[in-house]
Order: sequence, then structure tokens, then C-alpha cells
Amino acid sequence: MSHKITLIPGDGIGPEVTQATVRILEASGVKFDWEPFQVGADAFSKYGEYIPKEALESIERTKVALKGPVTTPVGGGFSSINVALRQKFELYANFRPIRNLPHIPTRYPDVDLIIVRENTEGLYAGLEHEVVPGVVESLKIITEKASTRIAKFAFNYARKNQRKKIHAIHKANIMKLSDGLFLRCCRNVAKDYQEITYGEHIVDNTCMQLVMNPYQYDMLVMENLYGDIISDLCAAFVGGLGFVPSANLGDECAIFEAVHGSAPDIAGKNLANPTALLRSGLLMLRHLGENDASTQIRNALEKVYRHPEKLTRDVGGKSGTSEFAESVIEEMRNNSAAPATA
Ligand code: NAI
Repeated sequence: MSHKITLIPGDGIGPEVTQATVRILEASGVKFDWEPFQVGADAFSKYGEYIPKEALESIERTKVALKGPVTTPVGGGFSSINVALRQKFELYANFRPIRNLPHIPTRYPDVDLIIVRENTEGLYAGLEHEVVPGVVESLKIITEKASTRIAKFAFNYARKNQRKKIHAIHKANIMKLSDGLFLRCCRNVAKDYQEITYGEHIVDNTCMQLVMNPYQYDMLVMENLYGDIISDLCAAFVGGLGFVPSANLGDECAIFEAVHGSAPDIAGKNLANPTALLRSGLLMLRHLGENDASTQIRNALEKVYRHPEKLTRDVGGKSGTSEFAESVIEEMRNNSAAPATA
């Protein structure tokens, strides 16, 4: 059986890391039927639309997309493609596992944290306007429906995956109504999951606590903006943005993408590290039920990380994006005779 997947390579380093990821995923033997589409500024100059309607129809059909980073202009121009896709397909849960890869030196070994971020509202609802010249207003939307939905997602994941603890992250001491509602929804959901310890921490304290001792947390659930900031902070525990995968999940569709941006400073130079998008591809394989292939690639990836010279330059290696991909594929071939470890 072949999996139909919408493929959005993105721009900047997007096409390079996507090509490397696709090569590795295909080398696992899993069959894919990719439907590739351009989005963003490139798509606009060709088709007059930032997200061509054919791309949206493809996601509606395939229900699964693998996406590279897309450049978003700052302070003007078109609004974020990522935010638009998450809202259009109700991809309400942004799921980011934070785990170390062996042999990447970091300040904190053996981190194993899960961040669940509400993806559709909060300050990213996109409701901004100029009240009078010199005064702008940005609205933060928190609803009972979306807060309950994200809390249920987090607790269900915890129950299915034997996670022990969930902290809801908030600023309800200041935003008493909006973050207060978010917390009430989390508390209500928590009552149905007595086996999972539930806690609440204020977001600024959480940043300090994370840096002091990330091991005190297991899973964190929070609204959109806090999730955006804290997930990048946590990426630093495992080597930075080049390592962290993410999944945007809804009830119908799922989009898998790296956490990092389009890195215009290194685009087109075969320098980008494809690890984050590859790890997002591994989450996609699990979503598709291809657990053996996911494990096979993960084992090969971890083996490559034992050889510093095979790594990309951002982690002190000498390889380009394509050579790195080749090393992972070579490891998969070497390991294909050996049984995969879980
Ligand atoms: P960035 O993540 O593109 O770059 C930050 C730094 O990390 C740069 O020095 C870059 O070279 C490095 N870096 C990032 N990914 C790397 C990789 N895979 N391998 C090696 N080095 C890597 O963040 P920045 O500069 O804030 O954003 C650039 C553009 O990307 C902006 O237009 C932003 O809006 C967009 N962006 C898109 C995202 C998405 O599509 N999911 C997510 C974040 C930003």
C-alpha cells in the first residue's frame, strides 16, 4: 500500500531538508505517493495565491502533509502560512517531543519532555487593528471549547503513553479571565484522569524552572503564544532548533513540520541539518502506523550521530545536507539484516 502525502517543501532551506528527508523515508521501503506543492512568496509569484487552492484540496484529500519551513515577512506582507494552515484544518494540537539525540553535547542529558500547545487561538487569532493612529489592539481569544479540547488531547496522550504528570502553564494572575478560563478547563479535564498528577505553573516562573531543572516536568500544556516561546526554549535542551520535530494534529488532518524556520542565511548551500524534519517524518510514520520503519530510521539516525565527521556543520561535522542523508541511508542498509530494537 502506498501512502498519499501532500508535500510542501517550503522555501529557504526547506527544499534541501525536504529532499533529504524524503530520500531517507523512501529508503525504509515504505511506499509514498507524494503530492508536491509550493506555498508562500514563490507560489504567489507563480499562481497569485500564497497557498494555492490545489494544495488545500490535496491536504483535504490526503489528510496528511509533510511540510518544510516557509518564510514569513515581519511587520507586513502576507500573514503566516503556518498559522493559516493550522486554522484552516483545525490542527488544534501542536505536539513537540523534546528528546536528546546521543552524542550531541548539551547542558542537560536525557531530557524527555512533551510540549502540547493550543494551535488555533490565543494571541495568534490574527485579530489586530489600529484603533487610532499610533495605537493598535491585538485580541487574545480563549474559548472553553478549544481549551477543553487541548487539555483532553494532552491527558489522552499521557494516558496512552504512560506519562505521569501534566502541568498547565498560564498567566492567570494577570489575565484572570482569559487564562483563568484556560485553567478551569484544564482542571475539569484533569478530574477524569486521576492517575496523572496535575499541576499549574505561571509562565515566567516556568521558564526559570525549566532552565534550573527541566527534569521536574513531564508534559506541559499551554495556549498558543506561551507554547511558541517555551517550545523554542526547550529545543535548546537537546541541541537547538535543528533537532526538534513537531506535529500539528486535528481530528481529521495532520501536518508534520520542523520547528525551525527557513534559515535564509544558509539556504541553497547544502549546509542545513535535516534532522528536525526527518524526526517530524518519524512522527508521521507512526501516525501512518509504520512503526517499524520509524524505529529503523531512528536507530540509523542515532548511529550516524556517533560519528561526528558525518554530521552537518551546525553540530561540528563536515557533511553537507545530502551527504548526511546518504550516511543515514547507508546505516539503514547496514542494519537491514539486524533486527530493529524497539
Ligand atoms: P530560523 O530557524 O530560520 O534560523 C535561526 C538560526 O538557526 C539561523 O542561524 C539558521 O541558520 C539556524 N538554523 C535553523 N534551522 C537550521 C537547520 N535545519 N540547520 C542548520 N541551521 C539551522 O529562524 P528565523 O531566522 O527566526 O526565521 C527565518 C524565517 O523562517 C522567518 O521568515 C520566519 O518567519 C520563518 N519561520 C518559519 C517557520 C515554519 O515555517 N515552520 C518556523 C519559524 C520561522
